[in-house]
Amino acid sequence: MNFKKRPLGLFLSTLGIIVWCFIPIQASGKKTGFPDLSKTKQIEIKRGFSPEAIKCIECHAQKTPGIVESWKTSRMAHTGVSCYDCHVVPKSSPMASQCEGVRGTNIYTSPMVSSKRCGKCHPTEVHQFEKSAHAKLAPRPVDKKLVGLIYELEGGGFIGVKRTDPKNWAPRATGCQMCHGNKIELGPDHKPIKNTWPQSGIGTVYPDGSIGNCVVCHTRHSFDIAQARKPEACASCHLGPDHPDIEIYYESKHGQIFLTQGDKWRWDSAPETWEPGDYTAPTCATCHMSGIGDLHTTHNITERLKWDLVHKKSVIRTGERGDGYKGEKLMEKVCANCHSTLHTKQFMSSLDNAVALYNTYWDGATKMYNDLKAKELLKKDKWSDGYQELMYYLWHHTGRRARQGAAMNGADYAHWHGFFQIFQVYKDMQAIYNYRIKHNKIEELSTVMSSAPY
Ligand code: HEC
Ligand code: HEC
Ligand code: HEC
Ligand code: HEC
Ligand code: HEC
Ligand code: HEC
Ligand code: HEC
Ligand code: HEC
Repeated sequence: MNFKKRPLGLFLSTLGIIVWCFIPIQASGKKTGFPDLSKTKQIEIKRGFSPEAIKCIECHAQKTPGIVESWKTSRMAHTGVSCYDCHVVPKSSPMASQCEGVRGTNIYTSPMVSSKRCGKCHPTEVHQFEKSAHAKLAPRPVDKKLVGLIYELEGGGFIGVKRTDPKNWAPRATGCQMCHGNKIELGPDHKPIKNTWPQSGIGTVYPDGSIGNCVVCHTRHSFDIAQARKPEACASCHLGPDHPDIEIYYESKHGQIFLTQGDKWRWDSAPETWEPGDYTAPTCATCHMSGIGDLHTTHNITERLKWDLVHKKSVIRTGERGDGYKGEKLMEKVCANCHSTLHTKQFMSSLDNAVALYNTYWDGATKMYNDLKAKELLKKDKWSDGYQELMYYLWHHTGRRARQGAAMNGADYAHWHGFFQIFQVYKDMQAIYNYRIKHNKIEELSTVMSSAPY
């Protein structure tokens, strides 16, 4: 559609009549029976665009037509939310700058739109999201914990690339922060500086102090709820050798049903009304986020989890990682919509069993490690020490694949990329351990190190 001529005008004129209306949207206390009117979730809708907003749209339809085209398809555009509502900030905001088109006026814009801004109209989603590992924990490792790995090793520190050399930032800017997020830093003109923006990290830390990028799942500028419900919305981050969740999903029975029948499902039902019938098998969103049966939609993906399946030893979640006992009950409620209690309980107990086996391997590996440490048979640099390198693969790659494969019914990952490789890695670790203990020295060069395919 060429909106540079007529259609944009047409589109605006359908919305252009300035009607102010106030639509309170009722969030029901329970999902069955009559809505609980005492708990009212209100969204204020200003239908129609102000003259300032129309200026943004008209000029940007020329300058950045792709953005305007996506935005036009969004539900928010249809309810009168425009560039102005998201990108215009007060002059006092740390992010206040001026785009070419508003220079010299008293309008200030920002290319960044923080979750705080979305929260002005969507406080419920933002509060839930803030409690999740997506917002709370995701940016942490990139910022502080793994400086050694990111800068000294991947960034070439050990081959002489200095911290002041821009090259040293490449692994972080192109890798970690694109998934995890990181702090956006500003230049003197209050625009974000390179290497910290653009980024698509879920835990982006914005200059206004808020954490979390809302548009990684329902992408700007169409902000599509249907897109977020599809498994691919999670796949830009949840993939690969260390957390192959999309691969596991595709090979699961649920994924297979999605792949063969998903094109016939109804994806755009209103929030809280997307229920079995619209679909016949769950997606990532169904299990981890969406309202289903008497469960409400949650933007806290930590809420429905029992185990910690990401760290070295799996434990039932507590503290900042959630409440595992509650999580287990909530997840079982999801399954109950389509499976019998017997089916769900027995599946979940086989997950518990897989976790217990992985933990047994990990405990064994830790015991050998402590032994070697006491006898000073470990190198200081763990990345040139065969035993320690394998120990990393044991939990971070093979061990996660086995546990997450078991959790989400991905047999190939639970087995061939999981437990099968766990036993191989473990045997190699045993061999190194036995050699070091027998000869009371560290082997010269580890053959496993250079061939480790894990
Ligand atoms: C509902 C809020 C919202 C609306 C409405 C909105 N945007 Fe955005 N926009 C965003 C978000 C979120 C980002 C990503 C910001 C980030 O990376 O921190 C963004 C990024 C941008 C960027 C910078 C990224 C790039 O690709 O260059 C531009 C330019 C932009 N928007 C223009 C517009 C224009 C023009 C309109 C109106 C037609 C508009 N936006 C409407 C939320 C919005
Ligand atoms: C007269 C044209 C014009 C108008 C009006 C205009 N813009 Fe822009 N805007 C531009 C141009 C040109 C760019 C730079 C595009 C590029 O870099 O290729 C830009 C860039 C942007 C960016 C990206 C960040 C930046 O600072 O470069 C955002 C966000 C943005 N505009 C938002 C807005 C909003 C919100 C309004 C309305 C208040 C608006 N624009 C009004 C022309 C305009
Ligand atoms: C000025 C208020 C306002 C702001 C700011 C705002 N929204 Fe919205 N949003 C709305 C309204 C109004 C609706 C439509 C509600 C409806 O139709 O039920 C909506 C709907 C949505 C939907 C549902 C779309 C669908 O297909 O059903 C999503 C997702 C969404 N917004 C995300 C965001 C994100 C992400 C941000 C920040 C980048 C944001 N919103 C900022 C007012 C806003
Ligand atoms: C392709 C996207 C992606 C990239 C790139 C990526 N991660 Fe991750 N990372 C994830 C996902 C997804 C998880 C969560 C896995 C889970 O919960 O099972 C995760 C988990 C983690 C965890 C464990 C969670 C925690 O809070 O302790 C750490 C630490 C971590 N990543 C650090 C990094 C660092 C450092 C880099 C760059 C050197 C990096 N990641 C690169 C997606 C990514
Ligand atoms: C991890 C992916 C993901 C992220 C990040 C995300 N959303 Fe969503 N969002 C979803 C999914 C999935 C749905 C649809 C839930 C359903 O099935 O009804 C949704 C639905 C919505 C809706 C529609 C109303 C509702 O509750 O169902 C709004 C509004 C919304 N999101 C706003 C936001 C805001 C604001 C943020 C940032 C704080 C955000 N989203 C971040 C995945 C995400
Ligand atoms: C832009 C990247 C990105 C996208 C998209 C994304 N995630 Fe994540 N997710 C992460 C990162 C990074 C972590 C690790 C957080 C941490 O440090 O513990 C994570 C962690 C998780 C966890 C574990 C939470 C915990 O408490 O340990 C679940 C479950 C999860 N994501 C589900 C989803 C689902 C479902 C979707 C899609 C609807 C999704 N994610 C989309 C990056 C992403
Ligand atoms: C049938 C429901 C279901 C579907 C579909 C599903 N998951 Fe899961 N997911 C689970 C269960 C159950 C667990 C394990 C919960 C526990 O800890 O007890 C889990 C665990 C996870 C974890 C590990 C959290 C941790 O402890 O580190 C991540 C990450 C995750 N899922 C992401 C995804 C993504 C991404 C998708 C889609 C590609 C997806 N899930 C599809 C049910 C599902
Ligand atoms: C929307 C409905 C739906 C939900 C929710 C759902 N499933 Fe399923 N599930 C199915 C369908 C349909 C099949 C395929 C049954 C068949 O093969 O005939 C299936 C198959 C399975 C299978 C493969 C074994 C078998 O019986 O075919 C397992 C395991 C499984 N589901 C576990 C779960 C778990 C655990 C949960 C909750 C975390 C869950 N499902 C949630 C619909 C669902």
